[in-house]
Amino acid sequence: MKPKMNWLDYDIEDMVDGDKNCLWHHLKPHKCFETQEQMIIVEGRGLVVKDIRGKEYLDATSGGVWSVMVGYGRDSIAEAVCAQMKKMPYFAGVFGNVPAIKFAQKLLEKLPNHGKVYFSNSGSEANEKAFKLVRQASRINAKRKGKYKIMYRDRDYHGTTIGAMSATGQAQRRQDFGPFVDGFVEFPHCACYRCPYDKTYGKCDIECARNVEDIILKEGPDTIGGMIVEPITAGGGILKPVEEYYPVLQEICKKYDIWLIMDEVVCGFGRTGKFWGHEHFDVDPDIITMAKGLASSYEALSATVVKQKVYEVFLNDPTDPDTRLNYFRDISTYGGCTSPMTAALESTRIIEDENLVENSRIMGEYLFEKLDELKKYDCVGDIRGLGLFAGIEYVNNKESKEPITEEQMATLIGNVISEGVIVGRTISSFHGLNNIMNFAPCLIITKKQVDTIVGAVANAIEKTFK
Ligand SMILES: Cc1ncc(COP(=O)(O)O)c(C=O)c1O
Repeated sequence: MKPKMNWLDYDIEDMVDGDKNCLWHHLKPHKCFETQEQMIIVEGRGLVVKDIRGKEYLDATSGGVWSVMVGYGRDSIAEAVCAQMKKMPYFAGVFGNVPAIKFAQKLLEKLPNHGKVYFSNSGSEANEKAFKLVRQASRINAKRKGKYKIMYRDRDYHGTTIGAMSATGQAQRRQDFGPFVDGFVEFPHCACYRCPYDKTYGKCDIECARNVEDIILKEGPDTIGGMIVEPITAGGGILKPVEEYYPVLQEICKKYDIWLIMDEVVCGFGRTGKFWGHEHFDVDPDIITMAKGLASSYEALSATVVKQKVYEVFLNDPTDPDTRLNYFRDISTYGGCTSPMTAALESTRIIEDENLVENSRIMGEYLFEKLDELKKYDCVGDIRGLGLFAGIEYVNNKESKEPITEEQMATLIGNVISEGVIVGRTISSFHGLNNIMNFAPCLIITKKQVDTIVGAVANAIEKTFK
């Protein structure tokens, strides 16, 4: 009999070679594989990760893309998943399973205005479901006939699939992937630091929200069924709208019967100091999509949560000759896996039992207090965000707001990493505007760890811009 495999065993040099020869890394210029050894992360505990050479880093990014909410090394998640896998790993989502039911109940407890939860496995997919809901509703429901178009903002990101990219602004990110899907309509963002209407907050009329109505009127209100926004734009540069923004947008959506879709993929699960990002604003979305922090990325899970009124659009009478379908004609194979919901249940239990949303709020305030100290540097143009979600926009001239170059940004990030801290950045999203460094540490962070992160950034700034 063959000995049992130990899948955790590896040989370092074999892995380094394997990484170079077999792995195609996400978002990294390929040429650098030929000369540089890539970082291979092998272990994590709390906020600290270790690479294959034994070097430790303090991770200020919750796993690179803001998703490991409860930190690394949570045995209880692994144990819960292991037990569920042994009992019942999978059956298609056309049927029910216990972890899915329990986690749907938990989500609706957190979203009392909503009525149904639809599971899939990535943020892109959760958004695709939302778009398909809008489109199918426009075909099967007399009141929504013809309302198939989706509006989106020019700095938001909603995913990697062609549909989700059709709803994504970020010109540079999109540039090689068109033509895109018809029926997506762009509108300007609400970033005060670089106001699309050249206004100053306090002296403006929230044109960024009000002018959306003109775009709707031009496009034809009878053709628009949905509007997708991130509560706080993440990859587009950590952009928090002013408090008047969403109420205006919501009013416009109500007036023209447009479903407001909040993409909580990044902001959900405590990231911004409240459980949901949209809770900071006076707004009540019709559809909410979520992923990343849902299961703290211990498993892949996403969800599209809708108001009962949205669900009821799909409750058509099948004998009615005017309606073709009486259900949402969609499936996702992995939406029937049981481990993701199990991991999500345990991760959410940890968030609740350890008061991590409150920690996110308190440590978030401390993070911004410390980041504010960096304003003394000429290169720090703007600091923004909320809770444990922060961004620094770097400029070469505070007055003209001229962004630092790609090369300066790359050097700066490299210098932070050499201080033993991993931070994130906007990358290939906007021509000339990939100058935003971001921070989204796990929700368990301590003051001391905040100090280490900000200290590393200060040192890196001094080294880069000396
Ligand atoms: C706001 C937002 N929505 C959707 C997505 C897509 O999620 P996924 O990469 O899981 O498909 C992302 C990914 O970064 C995101 O930031």
